[in-house]
Amino acid sequence: DGLSGYGSASGGFPAVRPRRLRTTPAMRRMVAEHTLRPADLVLPAFVREGITEPVAISSMPGVVQHTLDSLRKAAADAAAAGVSGIMLFGVPEVKDAVGSAGTDPDGILQRALRAVRAEVGDDLVVMADTCLDEFTDHGHCGVLDARGRVDNDATLARYAEMAVAQAEAGAHMLGPSGMMDGQVGVIRAALDAAGYHDVSQLAYTAKYASAFYGPFREAVNSSLRGDRKTYQQDPANGREALRELALDLAEGADAVMVKPGMPYLDVLARVAEAVDVPVAAYQISGEYAMVEAAAERGWIERERAIDETLMAFKRAGADVILTYWATEAARRLAG
Ligand code: PBG
Repeated sequence: DGLSGYGSASGGFPAVRPRRLRTTPAMRRMVAEHTLRPADLVLPAFVREGITEPVAISSMPGVVQHTLDSLRKAAADAAAAGVSGIMLFGVPEVKDAVGSAGTDPDGILQRALRAVRAEVGDDLVVMADTCLDEFTDHGHCGVLDARGRVDNDATLARYAEMAVAQAEAGAHMLGPSGMMDGQVGVIRAALDAAGYHDVSQLAYTAKYASAFYGPFREAVNSSLRGDRKTYQQDPANGREALRELALDLAEGADAVMVKPGMPYLDVLARVAEAVDVPVAAYQISGEYAMVEAAAERGWIERERAIDETLMAFKRAGADVILTYWATEAARRLAG
């Protein structure tokens, strides 16, 4: 049988003892199957228009809505810690039905991209969330039709404009996160037509309609009522992620992402096994909040818990991890 190579009990004791390889820290380090590096990490960050001091996000202790100045400093700190990238989200002062601020060359996200590029140059991969929900007054990721449904193809036209505005502002990599059908292909075509052949896409390939985005709503002052179940995936579906994956790759995705993280490690593992492009996992706001809240109550060891979640993503097959703890974890790794 399959276990025949493992010997048998000798004198009533086990001949094979996996514990022998766990005896000392050096032994454990030698046999570790996975390692976490600062370069695996990407910091998501929020920048808000019209504030003069950073604003705390109460459901994400330690995370703030940045001013342009504090964002520059956070980017510089992340780069100094060895973090690979920064993913920017904009919070505009004025929202409207079509998310105009998202495509305005002078909109807060575009200004933030310019500020961060001026600060870190190419030392970080500077990424932008390519999605309308931070900019729409109804809070949906796209524009609505006459009946109030999210209009896929009208939204694609807005994403194309947004992508070019973000590339013009200096984004190295775009993160289309709206889960509209065809978004990666339309964005690729728009970027290429505008001459941005080298601007890449980290596609939110498998993005689930999740309760764990809760704190993010506070982070971007979202006015969403209802849910995103007509465009984000049903948590009941794993195989469907592979269909989304095939489409994104065919449309030109350079790297792919699974989101949320921890509740979807099975999806991450399936995606990582299926592809030859880099795979990212997004440890989202609710995952961050859960650990911080439990640690605050003394119910878990904060730093151990954080590091364990990050290693879990590596074990499941992630090459890149987006986490609000990126800078802190990178510093700890550098130790
Ligand atoms: C959409 C977007 C969301 C997040 C990242 N991009 C919100 C959503 O889909 O509802 C969530 C990130 C987090 O919760 O940390 N622009």
